[in-house]
Amino acid sequence: MSDLYCVFGHPIAHSKSPAIHAAFAEQTGQAMRYEARLAPVDDFAGALARLWADGGRGANVTVPFKEEAFRLSDRLTPRAARAAAVNTLCLQDGEVLGDNTDGAGLVRDLSDRLAVDLAGQRILLLGAGGAARGVIAPLLAVKPAILTIANRSADKAQALATAFADLGPVEARRFAELTGRSWDVVINATSASLAGTRLSLPDALLADARLVYDMMYGAGDTPFMAQARAAGAAQVADGLGMLVEQAAEAFALWRDVRPTTAPVLACLRRALAG
Ligand code: ATR
Repeated sequence: MSDLYCVFGHPIAHSKSPAIHAAFAEQTGQAMRYEARLAPVDDFAGALARLWADGGRGANVTVPFKEEAFRLSDRLTPRAARAAAVNTLCLQDGEVLGDNTDGAGLVRDLSDRLAVDLAGQRILLLGAGGAARGVIAPLLAVKPAILTIANRSADKAQALATAFADLGPVEARRFAELTGRSWDVVINATSASLAGTRLSLPDALLADARLVYDMMYGAGDTPFMAQARAAGAAQVADGLGMLVEQAAEAFALWRDVRPTTAPVLACLRRALAG
């Protein structure tokens, strides 16, 4: 019998995780099955209990269950504890270990694939919701010159900056306070692209950055990527690479073997482009 894993979400039909993990398993010769499971919005705990009852060994967790997965974990990795959200669960010695691989996935995509040495760089993180919170500790771990968190609602950005201040140089700003400054790397962790909304950012800020990165992805440019290109950004990337890297990090935790991500990303990219 092969080992069972799954991804939980609501909705889940669109998830690329089953294809990614199937590719990783084939590449590394791991005997495992990986399913997409739709968990009821009001009973994630029940869905999780069913996975363990079915003999499951681990799971990925996506929207809207990452905070609940955090609460239901018996033990947490330090980065999951900091993120207050869990995207990876792993059964270890009868206990549920909760991890968060999102930030590590982002950092790996930026540093390995996009060849940005983040140490000493000025990083601007847009947004202060769950997606932003999940990547702050790993971004500070690469020792940027400054990590600026900018958000429409200033109080949420300030709360995050305060919560992570012990890990490195981090500050909070309103969007309106960004004018006249520049950053090396700009990362969008807002959900504005989902609504097709433009962020009210100065064009110069996007044009000055060495890399503008959207944690979202789609068949073509996201609205934020289009905004950055129109503003004159030198290099623009979406979050498909982050998706594959966070999966690789989860896979390594479960199976103790690190898959090669480039061919899997290339395959996903071709499928997305149709
Ligand atoms: P997630 O878990 O994806 O981060 P979230 O917790 O709902 O989702 O957070 C959404 C983020 O996108 C927030 O930072 C939100 O800004 P506010 O805190 O001011 O609400 C940001 N966001 C969403 N739509 C936006 C828009 N049109 N313009 C600017 N920021 C937006």
